[in-house]
Amino acid sequence: MLSGGASPHAIIRVTSGSNVPDTITITDDRTGKTVTVPITDGVFPASAIRDLDPALYIYDPAYMQTAACKSAITYLDGDAGILRHRGYPIEQLAEHSTYLEVAYLLLNGELPDAVQLDRWKTDVTQHTFIHENMRKRFVDGFHYDAHPMGMFISAVAALGTFYNDAKNIDDKASRDKQILRLVAKMPTLASMCHRFSVGLPFVYPDNDLSFPGNFLNMMWKIGDYQVDPRLERAMDVLFILHADHEQNCGTTAMRVVGSSHADPYTSCSAAASALGGPLHGGANEGVVRMLAEIGHMDNVPAFIEEVKSGKGGRLMGFGHRVYKNYDPRATIIKKAAYDVFEVTGKNPLLDIALKLEETALNDEYFISRKLYPNVDFYSGLIYQAMGFPISMFTVLFAIPRTVGWLAHWQELLADKEQKISRPRQWYSGADARDYVPMASR
Ligand code: ACO
Repeated sequence: MLSGGASPHAIIRVTSGSNVPDTITITDDRTGKTVTVPITDGVFPASAIRDLDPALYIYDPAYMQTAACKSAITYLDGDAGILRHRGYPIEQLAEHSTYLEVAYLLLNGELPDAVQLDRWKTDVTQHTFIHENMRKRFVDGFHYDAHPMGMFISAVAALGTFYNDAKNIDDKASRDKQILRLVAKMPTLASMCHRFSVGLPFVYPDNDLSFPGNFLNMMWKIGDYQVDPRLERAMDVLFILHADHEQNCGTTAMRVVGSSHADPYTSCSAAASALGGPLHGGANEGVVRMLAEIGHMDNVPAFIEEVKSGKGGRLMGFGHRVYKNYDPRATIIKKAAYDVFEVTGKNPLLDIALKLEETALNDEYFISRKLYPNVDFYSGLIYQAMGFPISMFTVLFAIPRTVGWLAHWQELLADKEQKISRPRQWYSGADARDYVPMASR
């Protein structure tokens, strides 16, 4: 039987029966050679292709059909809208846990007991300060209107130059130390980038505050600032929701750069660079700009028509490579938005967002393509209501995602099947030809 729906070049013959084996057999029609390999959890080894013909490659732009690693950190079922960290559903973690506890879970595989959590919190708290020269010699050198994400990406890489022991990636004690430093110092770097960009003096970490409380304090403290516990909790929930999301663009960048045995600061900086792109973590910035541009609920239908026609760009905050269902993080964030608005007052863009969501979810274009709100659709509204400038949104994403990157970095280094990342290409350029002297061109 011939079946459509896949690549236009594919000929698919379906011969399934009731007692089908969990194997796949691939035949090279040029040679008649056949290999049969097991399918485990829906995956078969690409080495089967190598066995068939070492000069044969799979063409898979954007790794759409490629599992590049084994990972025990995060489970994602995009069709069912399921996200679990180390087996724990994101909904339960967001309700009952804290970011630092989730960070411990991601890094260590298990939830900490009371003693372990206390030790971890103390360790993180005692590593929040950065070297004075990071600020005075490095950050102060940026142009006055530098984008905070550009500063942050550079600052993460620069931070590594203060720790020469970071190169010892084969030493577990050194790895653990860098992980601690990176997790602990991200809020300090982030708030420093913000304060520089608005011309405010740097606020030093306050070790008496919680992880999110300290961050909010470093961001906003002028005179008698007190952290509102409801905003502190909302910030922590947002950190939990952004902590990891398996092999996304940023985490893949972390693994690719880490596979060359670069130090974790350089690798995290690369991951942050990937995260900064507008199709990835930069989308929350795009959502708020888009909502402001729409301007009024009445303009939503016309905007949707523009998106569908291809003239108006994409509907930012909608769609996901893996989720073909409601992103579970978007559901939690939508609820958190209302909690924040109780403190800050409603973000006026919320009504436009709700109307946009409702219109899109009932429109055949979005239904047929399984496009649902993703994590970025509502997060920008919360950040804006909390007073964060749009240019800080992706930085806010990078603070908690650092622990996800580091958990994957650790896993990568321990994985005996991994080597330096080095995909192959399908060459499509000119054939060999002789150099043409300038006078003859
Ligand atoms: N608005 C309108 N149409 C869309 C959107 C969107 N947001 N997303 C996908 N589509 C359409 C595409 O035009 C395409 O239509 P076609 O089949 O008629 O050509 C179809 O849906 C499939 O799109 P792809 O680009 O193939 O999907 P892909 O999996 O490569 O892209 C992505 C996923 C990048 C997230 C995409 O949905 C997008 O650009 N969304 C907007 C940006 C965004 O919100 N990014 C944040 C993602 S979450 C995160 O990174 C934290």
